[in-house]
Amino acid sequence: MYKLAVFGNPIKHSLSPDIHAQFAQQTGLTVNYSKILAPIDAFSNTVNQFINEGANGFNITVPFKLDAYNFATELTLNAKTASAVNTIKVDGNRLIGENTDGIGLVNDLIKNLKITLKDKVILILGAGGATQGVLLPLLKENPKRIMIANRTASKAEKLKQDFSDYGNTCGFGLDKIKDDPVDIIINATSASLDGKMPNIANGCANGAICYDLMYGKQTPFMDWAKENNAAMIVDGLGMLVEQAACSFEFWTGSKPDTQSVIEKIKALDAQ
Ligand code: ATR
Repeated sequence: MYKLAVFGNPIKHSLSPDIHAQFAQQTGLTVNYSKILAPIDAFSNTVNQFINEGANGFNITVPFKLDAYNFATELTLNAKTASAVNTIKVDGNRLIGENTDGIGLVNDLIKNLKITLKDKVILILGAGGATQGVLLPLLKENPKRIMIANRTASKAEKLKQDFSDYGNTCGFGLDKIKDDPVDIIINATSASLDGKMPNIANGCANGAICYDLMYGKQTPFMDWAKENNAAMIVDGLGMLVEQAACSFEFWTGSKPDTQSVIEKIKALDAQ
């Protein structure tokens, strides 16, 4: 039996237990995946208790991805470059920290949405943790360029410098976005949480694939994309299932099928 869980605060609305239950059913593995609310100031204690109870691994969500990064005893390259951990595998005394968010996004784009990233011009809105988490896997697909645009320009410029070894990136303020179309726009700001869409040049969305990392509702970014003639508008539900599948494989070695699970979770989420 695999003893797994997701830690977060809040955690009540997490879809992860439903997703992993379906992976377990598919693969024939026995999995007990729970959701655990960790007090804001007691992440390590809460997680240690779970490990002492015989856990095989766990996911970590907001606001503990940096705590998990510091908690892990070793890190994959993805986790290192993301400076955040969303998956830990327990292997004796080893706590191996991985970050599957970016691979989840790339898998959703390439496998599910059939979008080629090679030679594409990608504009990412935001330069916080979410952007840092997806940059390396996106760059590994050899896009022509990734432009990082952020409200605070200096943070975008810093990410550009940090990732310059991995591909062609540039970083600037949201006000410097040109009115010219790009291939793909990824909204990695948390502005949607406040019901906001940053004020940017509308022309970049014309004919673009517009992907919001958020899921579960029509966001202001998705409304903006529609008003500005985007070719495709997608939310982050596919990424959620794909990152879960990567975590599941990291723990168990079994690769689940995601298509059927995305359909089921969409139906569940719409209820
Ligand atoms: P996350 O882990 O979700 O990325 P974060 O690290 O706090 O969260 O980053 C939030 C991102 O959303 C930042 O890029 C932030 O811009 P600043 O760096 O200028 O703060 C961006 N953001 C949040 N609210 C925004 C808004 N109303 N308009 C534009 N950008 C916004």
